[in-house]
Parts: sequence; C-alpha cells; structure tokens
Amino acid sequence: MSSDVRRIDPGELAGDGSAAAAEAVDLRTDLAGIALPDPILTASGCFASGSEIDRFFDVSDLAAVVVKSITREPRNGLPAPRMAETPSGMLNAIGLQNPGVDMWIERDLAWLRERGARVIASIAGKTVADYRHVARALRATDPDGATIVGWEINLSCPNVEDRGLVFACSPADSAAVVGAVAEEAPVPTLAKLTSDVTDITAIATAVVEAGATGVTLINTLLGMAIDPDTGRPELSNTYGGLSGPAIRPVAVRNVHQVRQALPEVPVLGCGGVRTVTDVVQFLRAGASAVSVGTATFVDPFVGPRLAGELRTWLATRGHADVRSLIGATEPWA
Ligand SMILES: Cc1cc2nc3c(=O)[nH]c(=O)nc-3n(C[C@H](O)[C@H](O)[C@H](O)COP(=O)(O)O)c2cc1C
Repeated sequence: MSSDVRRIDPGELAGDGSAAAAEAVDLRTDLAGIALPDPILTASGCFASGSEIDRFFDVSDLAAVVVKSITREPRNGLPAPRMAETPSGMLNAIGLQNPGVDMWIERDLAWLRERGARVIASIAGKTVADYRHVARALRATDPDGATIVGWEINLSCPNVEDRGLVFACSPADSAAVVGAVAEEAPVPTLAKLTSDVTDITAIATAVVEAGATGVTLINTLLGMAIDPDTGRPELSNTYGGLSGPAIRPVAVRNVHQVRQALPEVPVLGCGGVRTVTDVVQFLRAGASAVSVGTATFVDPFVGPRLAGELRTWLATRGHADVRSLIGATEPWA
C-alpha cells in the first residue's frame, strides 16, 4: 500500500449512534457462496478496476470490487458524447471500453492481486464463444479463486448470432451463455439481468437452470434523451443505459419478484443505491448484498460510508447482524 493511501475506519463515516453497539454488529454476508465481510460492493463499470478509487481509500477495504466488463478483444468503446445527465440519474453508452482479457489479467488483475482486493470479474461478449474464451482465460489465471472470488456474467450485450438481440432479453440466449461460462467456472457465477423484459423471473429461471449460482439485478434500463434545440440525441449511440436513483424502485421490484419466485436463488441487488436506507430496501426485498454504481461518481467514498452507516442503522434498531434482514418484508394484511 502506498504511503499516501488513507485507510477508512468505517466507524469514522458512520455518523451518530453508539460506537460500541455498532462495532458489535455482524455485517458478514454470504453471496451465492462468496463469503463477504459486509454487503456493499462496487457495480461494474463505475469503478473501472479500482486504481482510480485507490487514491481515496484502500480498495481491499471494500467487500468486493465488481470490475468493468471484460471482453475477448480490447474495445475502445463508442464515440463521445457517451454520458448525459437526467433527473435523478444518468444515461450512458460507453460501449464496453476495456483492454481485453489478456491485458486485463496482466495489468489490472495483477494490481488488484497485489492490493489484496476481493474481485468479482464481469464477463461480456458478442457470441457464446467470446464469453467462453474470457471465462477460460480467467480460470487459467486464478484457478482457485484466490483473488477472483466470483464471476458476474453481463448479459446486456447484443448477440451477433441472433440479430443483435440482447442476450438478457431471451431466456434461450441467456441460458446458452450461462451454460458455457458456468462449465468453466471455479467460483460462483452471477448472471446479470436487465429489467427491459416482460417477465424477469422467466429469465432468472432460465439462467439458474443453465448453471448460474445467483443473479445480479439489475443492469441499466434503456433510455433516450434529445437536445431540444439541435434535435440530436444526447448520446452518439442514440440510446443509452439509465442508471442512478431513478431506477431504484424498478430494481427493488425485480429483486422482490425474483425472491418470491425463486427463494433459494442468491441475489446481488443493483440500481440507484445511494443511501443506507436504499441498501436496507434491497436487503429486505431479498438481496444478499448490493453493488453501488452511479453514486460513486458523486461520492467516491460511498462504499465504505454505506458499510459504516449500515452498521449504525442496524445497531440503533437492535439488529445483531445483517443477515436477518435479507428477505424480511411484512405484508399489509
Ligand atoms: C458509466 C457506466 C458504465 C457501466 N458499465 C457496465 C459494464 O461494463 N458492465 C455491466 O455489467 N454494467 C455496467 N454498468 C451498469 C452498472 O453496473 C449498474 O448495473 C447500473 O448502473 C445500475 O446501478 P447504479 O444505478 O448504482 O449505477 C455501467 C453503468 C454506468 C453508469
């Protein structure tokens, strides 16, 4: 660790409350068989591979870093403009910019390993063979899951072998990818789904039957914004992914729906997490952990801050651990 890195004591960011009671709260959670010290992860694409955030705090303090999606070949991404602000959120069309799996292993993974971070590698591709290629490369470099403790399968990519239809919109295409990746996986696999479908539980069922250990809910929602003066779309790609607090109720609904339909399937909740009560909503809906994306752009400390605040939130309400909150909702009648 370089000397200018400041370690965050979560208690430092926790706010008011009894420090001793908060310290006694057990934040450990199990995400699809991945043992985590607390339930706050970073979301793919909003943290790159961690080195940007490392100047704020030590990335190994995070429960886990879900890295930017990795593809077989390097990708430069889409031309600018690639981001646009919206009320309570943002639109992005980055186009999976990443160095490709070989360079990612050599440069980014080596750095994360050296830091002692827990990594969840996000795999993306244009064909089933692409996904399998990345999976094999990851397995070869970390066969025991010493650093890469889990794989997230980003299914929000166009399938060039099926008219460019997004994998996550088709149960069969999603299952084909997940089946191929799960066959290679030495660690738990989380299939990341989109809410841009009629019935997310049908897709969740298909990926679990194909071998996914759990699901991440949700990726961005497809949106569009138009400059009223020029008439041009605000993104060069015309459409982009909507993220941030605007999508949180949709994400919480999806977590709840999948939990009701498939109560045994572990869920990583994602979408608009910004405050401790957002985290609690996802846990109560049925998520075993959450990953935080867009909020990182506003507050790089959001991960450790939320872990500290969750400790205090639980302590002040007399909860001894975080696990008892998972799936804990009450009916109206
Ligand atoms: C700039 C940006 C880049 C993203 N890149 C990826 C990516 O590479 N892979 C992926 O699975 N999700 C990606 N996402 C989606 C996020 O991981 C997350 O699912 C989504 O933004 C919702 O969470 P949030 O509201 O906390 O941002 C990206 C999101 C943003 C805003």
